[in-house]
This record gives sequence, C-alpha cells and structure tokens, in this order.
Amino acid sequence: MLSFNNLSQRLLDADYAVRGRIVTRAQDLEKQGKKITYCNIGNPHAFAQKPMTYVREVLSLLEFPDLLKKDISSLFHPDSIKRAKLILNAIPEGVGAYSASAGVEFARVAVAEFIRNRDNIPADSDRIILTDGASKAAQSVITAIIKNPTDGLMLPVPQYPMYSATLTLVGGQSIGYYLDEANHWQLNEESLLDSYNTAKMNKLNPVAITVINPGNPTGAVLSYDNIKMIINFARKHNLSILADEVYQENIYSKTAKFHSFAKVMHEMQVTDVTLFSFHSMSKGFYGECGHRSGYLEIRNVPEDVFAQFVKLQSINLCANLAGQIACYLMVSPPKPGDASYEVYLQEKTHILNNLKEKAQIIGYEINQIDGLSVNIPEGAMYAFVKIDLPAAQINRAVEAAIDEKYCMELLEDTGICVVPGSGFGQFPNTLHFRTTFLPPREQIIKLVEQLKVFHKKYLQQL
Ligand SMILES: Cc1ncc(COP(=O)(O)O)c(C=O)c1O
Repeated sequence: MLSFNNLSQRLLDADYAVRGRIVTRAQDLEKQGKKITYCNIGNPHAFAQKPMTYVREVLSLLEFPDLLKKDISSLFHPDSIKRAKLILNAIPEGVGAYSASAGVEFARVAVAEFIRNRDNIPADSDRIILTDGASKAAQSVITAIIKNPTDGLMLPVPQYPMYSATLTLVGGQSIGYYLDEANHWQLNEESLLDSYNTAKMNKLNPVAITVINPGNPTGAVLSYDNIKMIINFARKHNLSILADEVYQENIYSKTAKFHSFAKVMHEMQVTDVTLFSFHSMSKGFYGECGHRSGYLEIRNVPEDVFAQFVKLQSINLCANLAGQIACYLMVSPPKPGDASYEVYLQEKTHILNNLKEKAQIIGYEINQIDGLSVNIPEGAMYAFVKIDLPAAQINRAVEAAIDEKYCMELLEDTGICVVPGSGFGQFPNTLHFRTTFLPPREQIIKLVEQLKVFHKKYLQQL
C-alpha cells in the first residue's frame, strides 16, 4: 500500500488554505449538527445564487440535443434555441467529443472579439487558449516558465494561494511583494524593487510577476497608473506578467474602474513584455465555478513559444467542452433585441447590486468593531480584515499562528468559517482573516453582529 512517506514531497509541502484545516473542522462540526456559514471560498452558487438563465438554456440543449427536435418554445427563449443550433452546426459532434487542444475555434474567435470590444484594442484568436478555469491557465503558465529551481514568480502578499501552491508543485520559488494596506492595497514600486532585490541577493531568479486585479483576498481595484507602473517595472527587469483578471466584472465602487493589463500595455505601446491574462466564468455575475471554464490570452510571444503552450494544453487533450461553450456564452451574452436579453440584464443587475450592497455592509459594519478594520471592498468577493490585538500579544501571536487560532475559535463559537490571513501571506506582525460576502444579506448582517460579540469575548479571554 502506498504510504504517506512515499508521496511527492512537493505535494506534501503545497499549502492551499482556502480549503485547509479550518474548513475540515467546519465540515466535522456540520456533521455533528452545527450550523456553519461558509465564508471561506468564492463559490456563489453554493449560496443559492441562481445560474444565468441564458447560459443554462443553451448548455441544456447542447447536453441533450434531442430536445431541439421537440416543441420546446414554452421552455426556452427563441434566441437560446437558435444559438444552440448554431453551435451544433459548428461542432456537430457536440459536447461529448474532444476539441482541438486550444479549444473550439468559434469560441476563441468570440473571446478575441470580447477583448476587442472591452478594451478597444486588437486581439488575436490565435493567441487564446480555452481552459478548465483560470486555475488551469495559471498552472500551465507556471509549468511553462519555471525552468530552474531558483526561478521564481513575484507574488502579491497577500495572494491567492493557488499561485504559491502551484509553484511548490513545480519546484519554483515564491517571491513575495507586499501590497500597501494603507493605500487601498495598491502596489508600490519600492515594495516591488525591495522584493526583486532581496530575491536577487538570495540568488533567486525572478522570471515573472503575478498581479490579481481586482484583488483576492483584498477586494482592491488597481488604478490605471498603478498598472502602468507595474508594466514599466516588468519591462525594466525583463519579467513576464501574469494578470489574473477573473473578477473584472465585480466592481462595486463608483470611483474604481477595471483596466485590463492588455489595454494599458497597448496604450503604452509596450510590445516587448510578455503578458498572460486570465479570465474565468467562476466569478463575475456568472459564478459558474463548477463548470471549470475560462481562458488564457497570451501577448508578445513568438509563434514557437505559443505553440509550446498549445502543446502543454494538448497533453490534457483539451478543456472540457461544456466549459468551453460556457466561456463562449460568457463572452457573447444576449444583445438588446434578443428575446432573453431582458432576463439576462435583470439577473446580472440583481446579482451585481446585491454583491455591491453586501460589500458595503460588511466593510462598514466591520469597521465599527473595536479592534477590527478593513478596506471596504471595491471589487471581487472578499474582505481582508485586520485584527488588532493588544501590542503585548502580537509577537507571540504571529509565532503561534494566532490568526488561525482566532479563526478556529470563531468557527467553534459562531459557526462562521473564514480563512486565516497567514494562508494568503501578510505583513510581519499583522494579523488578518479573509471572509467572502456571498451569504444572503440577512446572514451577512447577522454574521457581523456575531463577529462583534465574539471579538469582544476573545479579547477578554486573552
Ligand atoms: C484570483 C483568482 N484566480 C483564479 C481563481 C480560480 O478560478 P477558476 O475557478 O476559474 O479556476 C480564483 C478562485 O477563487 C481566484 O480568486
């Protein structure tokens, strides 16, 4: 029998806190009958967010094309029926067959058109690969660009731990740079330079920088100038950029605006920095995490390099077909005049308004609690909450992973399941936890009340 000790050390070392110890304990408690509010993961449908109707109509018809031979006009919008037929014309073999490695062509063409329309820049469908979600896209890129054990990827601190875990799996180095909590979690050049120089001093070789915008776990949206600064930095130090833009639709603040790296780079006329951009159907207002659907766009690479990315994808044959179609539907939603347009707009507006309201409630209410503070999320689905404990506690606290202890006690006491800041990385001597704001509004209101009572009790028992 395979023993634990014979497993790959890289696997044993990889850490993914979003589904770590606190969540395992939450599941145990749930089995024992405790009511758990899962705020550990951005999984909107788990909170009964309704799937977008047009997506599921088209997908249903593709999964069971015999329906198209029946009178289904009372069940499906006419444009969904028309779309399903068009898709089946393009892929008569349906969604049960493999596609070309990079994905079905009409969907890649639609992704390029989406980028052109979003950013008013050129986009090439032959530089797009459809993937099983953004995770697979990022993992492919990391697999491809880490050549030597000293090669590393600059990662934000705090970061989404899929990046560090994947680096551990492929045998590369995580090179953290601190986001500026005092400045809405923007990046700053000194911190980038400091991280880069420290890595060099330690004989590491930074090959690329990852930027998550809007941010997970921070909920921050980067300004145009900040993105410009990052591109200039990457150019100066010959780094590729991994732009994780899965939350591009999730912007809640009136003053914040999403700028893609592709657009800013185009407007700067930079053509010598390689850019990998990721998008996903798991987030936005779709929340289709289970469909494992997304794309990777690559800019500024020669043909032979792109071909290697297609080869890498071909080792997995191709992304799942339902996910590829879902991605196609994400980038080409119903248009005004289509029968399903009104429902689409209504559903989209409802989901985004609801998230916006909850982002503000959680941000505002947490800031009323003595000892907790947060940058009110401008985007994404998360708040990264700072826990201020009495000074005497802090040094001891960091060593003893007190953020994990705090989250565990919060779970045991209230049933609220959040992720300790240490799972994402945090500035030395600071403590945080990340919570989503996906539960229904009433539950969010209750959650902050419970948090307030818990925090007070926690301080008293220290
Ligand atoms: C920043 C970021 N990138 C990527 C992902 C994974 O996306 P996908 O479900 O498309 O793999 C997540 C999921 O939470 C995320 O927060």
